[in-house]
Amino acid sequence: MSLINTKIVLKKRPNPSVTEDLFEKITDDIRDLVADEFLVEVIYLSIDPAMRGWISSVGNYSEPVPLNDPMRSFGVGKIISSKNNEFLENEFVVGWLGWQKYSIVTSKSIQMKIPSNEVPLSANLGVLGLNGITAYAGLVDKCCPKEDDTVIVTTAAGSVGSAVGQIAKIYGCKTIGLTSSNEKKLICINDFKYDEVINYKEVNDISSELKKIVPGGIDCFFDNVGGIQFDQIMENLNVGARVVICGTIGMPSYPIPSGPRINRTLLIKRAKIEGLLVLDYFDRYSKIYEKLSRWFKEGKLINKEDISEGLETAPQSLIRLLEGTNLGKQLVKV
Ligand SMILES: NC(=O)c1ccc[n+]([C@@H]2O[C@H](COP(=O)([O-])OP(=O)(O)OC[C@H]3O[C@@H](n4cnc5c(N)ncnc54)[C@H](OP(=O)(O)O)[C@@H]3O)[C@@H](O)[C@H]2O)c1
Repeated sequence: MSLINTKIVLKKRPNPSVTEDLFEKITDDIRDLVADEFLVEVIYLSIDPAMRGWISSVGNYSEPVPLNDPMRSFGVGKIISSKNNEFLENEFVVGWLGWQKYSIVTSKSIQMKIPSNEVPLSANLGVLGLNGITAYAGLVDKCCPKEDDTVIVTTAAGSVGSAVGQIAKIYGCKTIGLTSSNEKKLICINDFKYDEVINYKEVNDISSELKKIVPGGIDCFFDNVGGIQFDQIMENLNVGARVVICGTIGMPSYPIPSGPRINRTLLIKRAKIEGLLVLDYFDRYSKIYEKLSRWFKEGKLINKEDISEGLETAPQSLIRLLEGTNLGKQLVKV
């Protein structure tokens, strides 16, 4: 078969902003497969805030994306030819496929085969994908929510945040969300069933607002932003609170800003604070997926998406996400 691939490669590193000119679209021939490889036609790509870190020169938990390589990205696609006995033509997979139309991979790049037709394909990158797995791992495994606990979530309308809010409701918790606009606030209340939502751009002092809304304090805090939102929420912890640091999208990567010292808060509230990396849960991916997809099929979890059309829209979609203008899981339909 003679196929031409289209790829979006990284040409430059951000300095410090993420801009479209960091990327370039190229085409090349697809080479023949060797043993164990298979060719995947990419259908949807996941756009993630972590990409900002992956393209910078300073690696974080993973190596920087090499210049001139296709941008690293999770995706879903269909196997269209294979030299691997375990991955067969016409099967659907989710894994590291990159910003390209076709991806030659081995099983190492694949997270899971997708059970066909059970859920919409794109949901495997949202509430049933990395974001849902992240939400479940951080909330259930690290925050250990109990019935009637108060759970607070930053980026409440986003992909991870909305899954956290919904899973917390399944556990019988009271949910408080923070987001940046009244449009997103309504989505949080109507779609994700948050009990209370704060538009952080409209209140002068998140801490005092929380004292009014949840005088009893916060039991679980799932943080995706860092910065001022984090500092002010930390002033409202309950005794025995569990705090999970999932993301720092509201903080510059460099220089790292200084903030209040939280030693005494943790001491007085006997609180626990812990970092979360979804990659640590990859050996439990399928198990967590089964739980999430059961809730999804029962209508207890909904998946909101913001899909842009065409591979070439990927850089702009990443910028949208980092500007906070996405409404739901940011995807690209290739
Ligand atoms: N630790 C892990 O393994 C892991 C895995 C996946 C994701 N994450 C983290 O989870 C968080 C959410 O990711 P997502 O994929 O679900 O994205 P998302 O929430 O769908 O989209 C990003 C959201 O971040 C908010 N935002 C953007 N710029 C901001 C800024 N300067 N200050 C404050 N908020 C800003 C915006 O929400 P508002 O308009 O509501 O502010 C925006 O919609 C990110 O921090 C990401 O790094 C961590």
